[in-house]
Amino acid sequence: MEHMNAPESINLMPRIGDTAPDFEALTTKGKIKFSEFAPDKWVVLFSHPADFTPVCTTEMSGFAQRKAEFDALNTELIGLSIDSIHAHLGWVQNVRENTGVYFDFPIIADLDMKVSKRYGMLQPNESETAAVRAVFFIDPAKKIRLIMYYPLNVGRNMDEILRALEALQVSDKHRVALPLDWKRGEKVIVPPPKTLDELNTRLADETLEKVDWYLAKKELQN
Ligand code: BEZ
Repeated sequence: MEHMNAPESINLMPRIGDTAPDFEALTTKGKIKFSEFAPDKWVVLFSHPADFTPVCTTEMSGFAQRKAEFDALNTELIGLSIDSIHAHLGWVQNVRENTGVYFDFPIIADLDMKVSKRYGMLQPNESETAAVRAVFFIDPAKKIRLIMYYPLNVGRNMDEILRALEALQVSDKHRVALPLDWKRGEKVIVPPPKTLDELNTRLADETLEKVDWYLAKKELQN
């Protein structure tokens, strides 16, 4: 069935730069209030369409297998789907029995769809009952910094999720921008000059790799 676009609900969808909407929810690790979850940490909040489905199983396993890399980036994971706690527990246990992979992070049971609707994870022209594959990157001030949405039939890329998270953190720490395909260890972009003095300083700086005055890269000093 074709749906009309719903401007009111689209206006409710969080955007980059917004404070992450607060909510209370039941998870596989107990009840949480999101504004009090993981203080002083980054949070990757992600949805999957349904428990016991193939693509979702590969994705959740990917998050679980690379959890140490999220930990190293001071980041907590929290999943969500429109399933019950019992379904979540059954699926976690089923995957652990079958593959040895354990989903050791909270998964929200969003049966009333409150969280998924508020975060724009429920996109009715894709599915009326299942959340799309969303990823919200939320900084320690609970500000939304990056959003990804994938449809039901295409799995996400864990390397890209980790790369984007690290890029956000490097950008904050060093006040730089990151070019296409940037990865740890590669040069970063120095923000363009805003005054003639800054322009002249830049032109005289022999340590920069300059394509032109507005595009200059440098090595990161840790
Ligand atoms: C999956 O995870 O395989 C899936 C879930 C919902 C719809 C289509 C695929």
